[in-house]
Amino acid sequence: MPASPLLRPWTAADAPALHAAFAADPLLEHQLGCRLDDVGQAAAYLEANLAGSLQRRSFAVDVDGAAVGNIGLTAIDPRHQSAWVSYWLAPSVRGRSLAARGVAAAADWALGEGGLFRLELGHRTNNPASCRVAWKAGFQPEGIERAKLRYGQARFDVETHARLASDPVPDIYPLPLQSPGPSTS
Ligand SMILES: CC(C)(COP(=O)(O)OP(=O)(O)OC[C@H]1O[C@@H](n2cnc3c(N)ncnc32)[C@H](O)[C@@H]1OP(=O)(O)O)[C@@H](O)C(=O)NCCC(=O)NCCS
Repeated sequence: MPASPLLRPWTAADAPALHAAFAADPLLEHQLGCRLDDVGQAAAYLEANLAGSLQRRSFAVDVDGAAVGNIGLTAIDPRHQSAWVSYWLAPSVRGRSLAARGVAAAADWALGEGGLFRLELGHRTNNPASCRVAWKAGFQPEGIERAKLRYGQARFDVETHARLASDPVPDIYPLPLQSPGPSTS
């Protein structure tokens, strides 16, 4: 029987799956700002960007034992108790509400055990699926930032959303989450 999807910390063994996800959707490189052309590049990216630290927590979306997406908390600011949320899924697992359930789980963790108060995210205004993910995970829209992102030669307006610890908990079933535990670096 297939295992239920969950969120867990990334491990070095996930490098081939990370490479496969990016090979399946070349547009994902715009989100990362770099290319992952082989497993070696994926391994280096994983070690540099997806390992936990005081400023960053990244959760692999695990489906049947394979890492097929990421829910990231970056720019963690203990002073203001805030962080930036990002997310992507491999094309093979899209259309199953996994991103919204994953973002909701990571937000619950960050606003609880993680000790944060305000979580922010932004999506290109021409990315309605991402906007829907934000809404479903309890992130309310806050406004448009004009021409904020540059993907290749094109610039994109971005709608920002935020979820506060004091906001209502969204009516969604969060993915189970394996706590990453305390960070030491
Ligand atoms: C954005 C992304 C994470 C969403 O993945 P997902 O969880 O599989 O999302 P779903 O396909 O389940 O769609 C989420 C919601 O958006 C809706 N949606 C999808 N495409 C849509 C479209 N073109 N217009 C309007 N709504 C749309 C779906 O109907 C769904 O709503 P529902 O749950 O109320 O039915 C995924 O498409 C992805 O990884 N894209 C590339 C990376 C990216 O854009 N990341 C976000 C950057 S801000």
